[in-house]
Amino acid sequence: MDRITQILTDKVSNAFEQCGYDKALGITGVSDRPELCQFQCNGALKGAKIYKKAPIMIANEVCEKLSADSGIEKSEAVAPGFINIVLNDNYLIELLTTLSNDKNLGVPQVGAGEKVIIDYGGPNVAKPLHIGHLRSAIIGESLKRLARECGSEVMGDIHMGDWGLQIGLVIAELAVRNPDWRCFAEDFDENTDTVPVLDVDTLNEVYPFASKKSKEDEVFAKAAHEATFELQNGRSGYIALWKEIMRASVADLKSNYEKLNVDFELWYGESDADKFIPELIERLENKKLLRESEGAMVVDVAKDDDKAPMPPVIVKKSDNSSIYATTDLATIIQRQKDFAPDKIWYVVDKRQGLHFEQVFRCAKKAELVPETTELEFLGFGTMNGSDGKPYKTRDGGVMRLSELLKTVTDSAAEKLMASEFVTDENRAETARRVGMAAVKFGDLINHRAKDYIFDLDKFLSFEGKTGTYLLYTVTRINSILKKTDDEKTELCGIYNDAERELILSILLSGEAFCYAHAEKAPNYICDSAYRIATAFSRFYHDSHIINEQDSKKRGSWLALIKLTKAILTKHLDVLGIETVDAM
Ligand code: ARG
Repeated sequence: MDRITQILTDKVSNAFEQCGYDKALGITGVSDRPELCQFQCNGALKGAKIYKKAPIMIANEVCEKLSADSGIEKSEAVAPGFINIVLNDNYLIELLTTLSNDKNLGVPQVGAGEKVIIDYGGPNVAKPLHIGHLRSAIIGESLKRLARECGSEVMGDIHMGDWGLQIGLVIAELAVRNPDWRCFAEDFDENTDTVPVLDVDTLNEVYPFASKKSKEDEVFAKAAHEATFELQNGRSGYIALWKEIMRASVADLKSNYEKLNVDFELWYGESDADKFIPELIERLENKKLLRESEGAMVVDVAKDDDKAPMPPVIVKKSDNSSIYATTDLATIIQRQKDFAPDKIWYVVDKRQGLHFEQVFRCAKKAELVPETTELEFLGFGTMNGSDGKPYKTRDGGVMRLSELLKTVTDSAAEKLMASEFVTDENRAETARRVGMAAVKFGDLINHRAKDYIFDLDKFLSFEGKTGTYLLYTVTRINSILKKTDDEKTELCGIYNDAERELILSILLSGEAFCYAHAEKAPNYICDSAYRIATAFSRFYHDSHIINEQDSKKRGSWLALIKLTKAILTKHLDVLGIETVDAM
């Protein structure tokens, strides 16, 4: 189904053409004065300059033609030359019926035919998952679902930080503590020797300890660098230990992401790019892009018109080791070989913007991807505490994601204590879903590039623009549907103003999907969901569905609330939010 503004633009464009004016003047949008009309076209104002005629005259002529359209209730020329349009109820019902029969529920397939890879999550193995990674998971998951909903073939890649110094630090520290482990011996034999089983709590303790130590102890820091280098060069004992670190970390990551309803098609990491590094170097050499600088190998990526300094990308350090940019470039080769994507989006903290600009420029210069491939950095802002500073634990430490998720779920459970609708057996799952909805919506309602304040009380409120309110709205619909099970339902008319508003809000959701997709901004989906939910609340207040005796009206209302539920659920699904049956 076309988006509704497109359907109207077609009608108005034809009217302009019939009057002898340029069709292109017919662009019609949603009215910004909803109390006056539903849709609005400002083309006559533009036409006035072209045709040297008063805009109101043009508007009047166009309205005259539009009056012949049976779908239009009223088209009015308003000084100085606006065209205000109101659709008639039969036509609104016809559009709504088309939407409800559309397999995409009116979501425009604007991404059809595109292959997209979304790089998000980005946790660092062996380091505890902290809340800095929460936004990447929430936003990336939503963008993935959005692109998929709009028809693209999309894959999410977690791109773990699993190959850098953090692993070297852990290896070096474990070696100090357990010198007798076979994996540290020069003659480690991968066929006969084993590595002890590690658990994530040990890793979570070892990494911060080793990281701190490396800042104070030069000898240890050197050992950690050496361990990193030897790992990257395939020392078998270290590889075996690394595999065990990966096993323990990945299991922990999976359980955290599962709680968040975030999942990845690809569980690759920086280590998987390692085998493409020789090819990367060769291709950079062939293009004569590599240059030596203080012992390191770099690629210049500055352009003449750069306003800010653009340092060269370091591809190999002086000790020949690879760094962040190396693995990101090699990963582009890997993605191109595996999927030849049309787009690669990176959902990463906005402070990494310069790194990605360097990487993208280098990738394009080296033709690692075709010129037309879109490499885009989708940076996000910080989640702050009520003091406006990055969210911390009570004692000022870095908040672990698992800790945050537990706090949120506990608070949601407490809120639900009073509810008679939540049974004991589904209390824990309901609390998790309500808690995650609160956190996700609280995040996604803000444009991703903005910082925001994490305010759990506000996010968990049943009122206002919250995930909790949206879930609650769905449960209100559920409760009516339960009481009216099996009744015949069919959209057939509009019986009050609140109902018309609700219908319009549903019809306009396609616009929100379009904007959100074009700008890669799920906040439009949040706004649209909220608009539908508030329109539903007014409708519910004004229409006594359960007591309605007129069976036609009752059936039409039931059809409308079923559709409301379906469309709200679609919005929530794109936000990565799972609904609950009752609360
Ligand atoms: N591991 C990185 C970090 O914690 C994020 C990875 C982002 N993705 C990428 N392709 N570099 O900062």
